[in-house]
Amino acid sequence: MAATARVSSPDPHIPVLLRPLLAEIAPVSGVWLDGTFGAGGYTRALLDAGAKRVIAVDRDPSGFELARSWASGYGDRLRLVEGTFGELDQYVDGPLDGVVLDLGVSSMQLDQAERGFSFMVEGPLDMRMGDTGPTAADLVNQTDEGALADILYYYGEERASRRIARAIARARAEAPIETTLRLAKIIEGVLPRAKPGQSHPATRSFQALRIAVNDEYGQLADGLEAAERALKPGGKLAVVTFHSIEDRMVKRFFQLRSATGGQGSRYAPEQAAEAPRFRIQTRRAIGPDDRELAENPRSRSAKLRIATRTCAEAGPVDRAALGMPILKKGARH
Ligand SMILES: C[S@@+](CC[C@H](N)C(=O)[O-])C[C@H]1O[C@@H](n2cnc3c(N)ncnc32)[C@H](O)[C@@H]1O
Repeated sequence: MAATARVSSPDPHIPVLLRPLLAEIAPVSGVWLDGTFGAGGYTRALLDAGAKRVIAVDRDPSGFELARSWASGYGDRLRLVEGTFGELDQYVDGPLDGVVLDLGVSSMQLDQAERGFSFMVEGPLDMRMGDTGPTAADLVNQTDEGALADILYYYGEERASRRIARAIARARAEAPIETTLRLAKIIEGVLPRAKPGQSHPATRSFQALRIAVNDEYGQLADGLEAAERALKPGGKLAVVTFHSIEDRMVKRFFQLRSATGGQGSRYAPEQAAEAPRFRIQTRRAIGPDDRELAENPRSRSAKLRIATRTCAEAGPVDRAALGMPILKKGARH
């Protein structure tokens, strides 16, 4: 049953794939940048594993508040930066030994009804990780029906996108859609009921809107590019993704950037002729083991990929070659 909106005090986020991450990047030393601080689980583990310093970035500063009690214990080994990882190279004062990105929202953000990320609890239709820019309500109420359908289809892989967009357009003509449960009900009204084991009918639509509100794919492409600029030769880039489009982008980025002239690439043949900028460390993505799945069911769709920077010069990345969904103008925010 749905809970009512309240300002909640969330349980701390449990770091995902931390054991395999630490095993893959050992021994940890030098300066690292954690682009997704959250509750600080990765940052703390990096500092305890031997990082000399960690620059910890998050667009949502609420995690910094929660971490205050332990963060001060690391003194000037830890610097907290409110910002987006898309421009992570602007927060550094020299080449980095490693960058970690643990994408998506934290369980603290998901569990706070007032943030509007969850279709299970009533809250304002907000979904912003930071506190600037348009909200999900702005998007749902102001985007034209076709463009809204494109967001649901391309960002959330929702096959019933046209039907849902039509239902949203009909409902908002009666009254603006301002809350999570009203939107969830509209979606439920036009989709078949979920069978046991299937996800809630609103899952993909909520994910698509959250991705659009926070420009998550644009941030990922920018962040990969910025990490390439910021890492020193031998530096590690580790990325944890939570759904197929994100994982495809990271996988293709690593493939393109590690390609050597002879192999070619059907995505960007002209880039394949250049010297490799990364060496792939994880041939296959690493997922949670049985122990982690039992401890933290939210880890089930997580995938970790790691690559090591070479000395080849950094350069721009073709978004389309990464498989990043690129919307028509009207659907962009
Ligand atoms: C899955 S959580 C990270 C959890 C963290 N690894 C931990 O152990 O606690 C993702 C965090 O990244 C932040 N985030 C997402 N996209 C971001 C971006 N583009 N720039 C900066 N922070 C971002 C979110 O606000 C959230 O706090």
